[in-house]
Amino acid sequence: MMILAIESSCDETSVALVSGNTKDIRVIKNLVSSSAELQAKYGGVVPEIAAREQIKAIMPLIEMVLDGYKKDEIEKIAVAYGPGLMGSLLIGVETAKAISWAWDKPLIGVNHLVAHIAACFINDKEDSEWVAPKFPALGMVISGGHTDLVLMENENEWRWIGGTRDDAIGEAFDKAANILGLPYPGGPSIQRAIEELDPIYLPQNHVKLPRPMIRDNNLELSFSGLKAALNKATLGVSIGRMDVCWWANEFNRAACEVILSKLERANEIYHPESIIVAGGVSANRMIRESLIGKYSDTSPRLFIPNLKYCGDNAAMIGAAAILRPSLVSFDLAPDPSLGVV
Ligand code: KG4
Ligand code: ZN
Repeated sequence: MMILAIESSCDETSVALVSGNTKDIRVIKNLVSSSAELQAKYGGVVPEIAAREQIKAIMPLIEMVLDGYKKDEIEKIAVAYGPGLMGSLLIGVETAKAISWAWDKPLIGVNHLVAHIAACFINDKEDSEWVAPKFPALGMVISGGHTDLVLMENENEWRWIGGTRDDAIGEAFDKAANILGLPYPGGPSIQRAIEELDPIYLPQNHVKLPRPMIRDNNLELSFSGLKAALNKATLGVSIGRMDVCWWANEFNRAACEVILSKLERANEIYHPESIIVAGGVSANRMIRESLIGKYSDTSPRLFIPNLKYCGDNAAMIGAAAILRPSLVSFDLAPDPSLGVV
């Protein structure tokens, strides 16, 4: 039996078929359509454009995902109901409610942030070596809208233990890219700029960017000052392509060092069995390589999603519906400001 999962929180529309149990979650199909290219000329997500594209995308995606399957093979419908953009969430939620009603299938409302973490419970390996993350687990969501640390005692008992005071890390990547004249979404374009960097290049006016709150003995993060420092360092200075690449690298390094430092601080306090880092920014090469370098041979065991499940996708919504099934009724309403717990 399968779950039909729907995600439409921000500028992606995604539909997936997912099956399995908490120890072995499998993705059968996962299709994602994004309006990011259309948003690029505005330098960020315009909610109205996102919603208009989602209206167009959602039914064809559902048809494509269900192609070859019968409705009797679908056991439940799962949908992200927050956090996110109201207009975008409404499209997924109302579509899911309509299918659930028409097909007489139970409806599961999924928290989008819980789903990012649930992406690490997807078994995408064919071999028998796969093991699901063990509890207690330390989770970190690094996405466009959030930077949160959570302690997970088991599938259901989660506690928020820290996070950003101001901007989310992904938002800071997007703004840093904008400052450097790189296109939206900022994370991938900063990463592409870094690939072009000549390792021995140093810009004339180079200063190191700050590592905000890195020495503070707590689990709080801040990215707004980092973005402002980049703006200050590059404002009014004519910078060539190689300077842009250098600043992109310096910004990414600063963000990466802060993330790793706060994660390690939480690890020292809580001694979890597993560390889970998920969300759109977990696709970042420098962050992934640093995490793997630090935690791969040691306990706790590190889990980062497969690249295709880092950004917004419906497979993670289906995974969360298996991990933390919470049945809801037809009065399910989008909640744009839902927190991770
Ligand atoms: O999780 P996500 O797809 O949407 C939210 O839930 O917010 O995250 C989107 C964020 C954007 O800010 C984007 O710039 C960032 O993830 N991102 C990256 C990378 N790929 C996407 N940031 C850094 N490096 C990347 N490779
Ligand atoms: Zn997301």
